Amino acid sequence: MEKIQIEQDIFEVMISAEEIQNRVAELSTQLYNDYKDKTPVFIGILNGSFMFMGDLVKDYPGDCEVDFLKLSSYGDEKISSGKVKLQKELTCDVTGRDLIIVEDIVDSGLSIKFMEELIEHHHPASVSVVTLLMKPNSLKYNVKIDYIGFTIPGRFVIGYGLDYKQRYRNLPAIYALEEK
Ligand code: PRP
Repeated sequence: MEKIQIEQDIFEVMISAEEIQNRVAELSTQLYNDYKDKTPVFIGILNGSFMFMGDLVKDYPGDCEVDFLKLSSYGDEKISSGKVKLQKELTCDVTGRDLIIVEDIVDSGLSIKFMEELIEHHHPASVSVVTLLMKPNSLKYNVKIDYIGFTIPGRFVIGYGLDYKQRYRNLPAIYALEEK
């Protein structure tokens, strides 16, 4: 499926399923090279990261643990509300652990900034951030992203975990809203 029509909007493939799978495997290898002497905790930020997180840890050949927390700032909209809500806390004790925060996309950077402040209170040994997608031109907060799958332009994207009104997360590729 090269194009999808959603109401009046047309979405076109920006990153194919194959390109995503290849890049995710590379990121897993890179993470393993950096963490092979440790047992990192991958922390997925729900909902958007669920698919990336699954593929990333499936490809990760070393010891690791996984946990999730749930944040929300976009609701059903295309533009961030500017406020982050913590909807589900971590369940594991991350004190003294090496954490890898897993995001599907870094847009303004607000969610990552919120995460960093939240996690600091738990006194981890180290924290790094991996994101599949990054929109460098949209960044508004000073955050450091350690591993980036793809840098993309500031277009609205769906698929591979990313939604529009909670739908389309199951698409295996990333689609971008066609510019009119
Ligand atoms: C999206 C996405 C990131 C965040 C990125 O989450 O999954 O977590 O926005 O944007 P930011 O850098 O401007 O904070 P959203 O709030 O839409 O929730 P979802 O993951 O459940 O779709």
